[in-house]
Amino acid sequence: MTLILRYMQNPDIPQVVTIDHLAFTPPWSARSYAYEVNESNYSHMLVLEHFDVPPPPSGIKRLVQSINGGREIESRIVGYGGLWYIMDEAHISTIAIHPELRGRGWGEILLAGMIRRSITLGAHYIVLEVRVSNTVAQQLYQKYDFKTVAIKRKYYHNDGEDAYDMRLNLDDGGEYARSFAPRYAHLLETHGFTDLYTETLPPRNRSQSDSSSA
Ligand SMILES: CC(C)(COP(=O)(O)OP(=O)(O)OC[C@H]1O[C@@H](n2cnc3c(N)ncnc32)[C@H](O)[C@@H]1OP(=O)(O)O)[C@@H](O)C(=O)NCCC(=O)NCCS
Repeated sequence: MTLILRYMQNPDIPQVVTIDHLAFTPPWSARSYAYEVNESNYSHMLVLEHFDVPPPPSGIKRLVQSINGGREIESRIVGYGGLWYIMDEAHISTIAIHPELRGRGWGEILLAGMIRRSITLGAHYIVLEVRVSNTVAQQLYQKYDFKTVAIKRKYYHNDGEDAYDMRLNLDDGGEYARSFAPRYAHLLETHGFTDLYTETLPPRNRSQSDSSSA
């Protein structure tokens, strides 16, 4: 079993939309994801991809496919997240794991990946909104030291539920980043996932030489 954390790309969008429909009301449209992936200058969308067998290095992918009777190596998107980075602020816009695959630590990988990406981008703080009824997600955020700073009344238009405005301060002289580094290393070791996300640019910007800024 292999897990890869990487930027979301166009071919991922149908699977992401499927998970989104299972996780949220109302869900985002495929068009919204396409905008985030291809057009937004502020967006750092990510996916967690699961392979039953280790994926081949890209250079020999065609060779492996030909041995495999032309079939792609089987993989599946198991979860995804959305991060916007504007000025000093990082904003977690969405996060979800397929309902059948929750409780394995994979949502934590997504959140920790977005926190690490925020740190490598130089964010001073991370914000997010969460339904007041969503105690599972709140516990995940609290595990990484997000604090509730306000309540946004009737934030969700479809049913009028309130949201907690949660924040994680990163503007502390590097203290959080220093304590976070061993936690992230421990996650990498425990789950053995490959991180192709937290230190790289979105594919749409890859022609630029800098590998760590937006
Ligand atoms: C929130 C979500 C992404 C968590 O993903 P997950 O893979 O199930 O979570 P993990 O297994 O990585 O658990 C990480 C932490 O989340 C919290 N958590 C997860 N499941 C929980 C549960 N059933 N009850 C309470 N806390 C829970 C815990 O803090 C847990 O840490 P711990 O294992 O040390 O206790 C997932 O539940 C989901 O997709 N929910 C629907 C979409 C959603 O609500 N997104 C948040 C929008 S703001």
